Amino acid sequence: MILCANFKANKTRQETRAYMAVVESFVSANDISDTIIVFPPFTALDHDPRNVLIGVQNGYPVKNGAYTGEIALEQLEEFGIRTILIGHSERRHVIGETQEQIAHKFRFFAEQGFAIIYCVGEPLSVREEGHEALMGYIEKQFEGIDLSYPDLIIAYEPVWAIGTGLTPTNSDIESVHSALRSKTPAPLLYGGSVKVENAGEIMALENVDGVLVGSAALSANDFCEMIAQAVELNTEIGE
Ligand code: PGA
Repeated sequence: MILCANFKANKTRQETRAYMAVVESFVSANDISDTIIVFPPFTALDHDPRNVLIGVQNGYPVKNGAYTGEIALEQLEEFGIRTILIGHSERRHVIGETQEQIAHKFRFFAEQGFAIIYCVGEPLSVREEGHEALMGYIEKQFEGIDLSYPDLIIAYEPVWAIGTGLTPTNSDIESVHSALRSKTPAPLLYGGSVKVENAGEIMALENVDGVLVGSAALSANDFCEMIAQAVELNTEIGE
């Protein structure tokens, strides 16, 4: 399983350090082989990871240059960052990144060999139009994206489920994930209001290879509890 914690614009550097200490000692004490990735804010990237990967929530697709307010490859490389989140719904819908910009960013970081967690997901109005409309919407979010990129992970995150406490039904998640599975060999994460109470059952669904968690992962203990649920599933399916 792959479990990701997306901090968004939460936590200071000091808080991130304390968080990582809890998660890293949990992972080593329990000999966990699942992939754990934490995405702190830019200010807290200076961590020397032991058994948990640190990824970045965003990056500007240039080596360096005159791009006020942005962080480019050179600065990420200084912290040894090799993992990036691209296409998150907040970047699409709050910050206003276009598919063209997102695809450009994807190509740049793929050329650099980054592991890319690429997010897709539909707004509620599209979901209400049914499965075909939903998949058509996601198809557009794949424009310019190489779905056979070897270091790709896809995260399906319905916009209306992010930070709202609402989640699709398990069978809705399965039907989107099985449609995604036919398009890409990449591992498929589900994200959107994942929490301790539902993480285990979501990870147990067909074609779900892990979770991308926002608010509920801000508690290190809760995130560890979700990791423990993944370990239990591995044992159940004899991995
Ligand atoms: P949430 O966020 O878990 O708070 O819904 C998920 C995400 O935005 O990745």
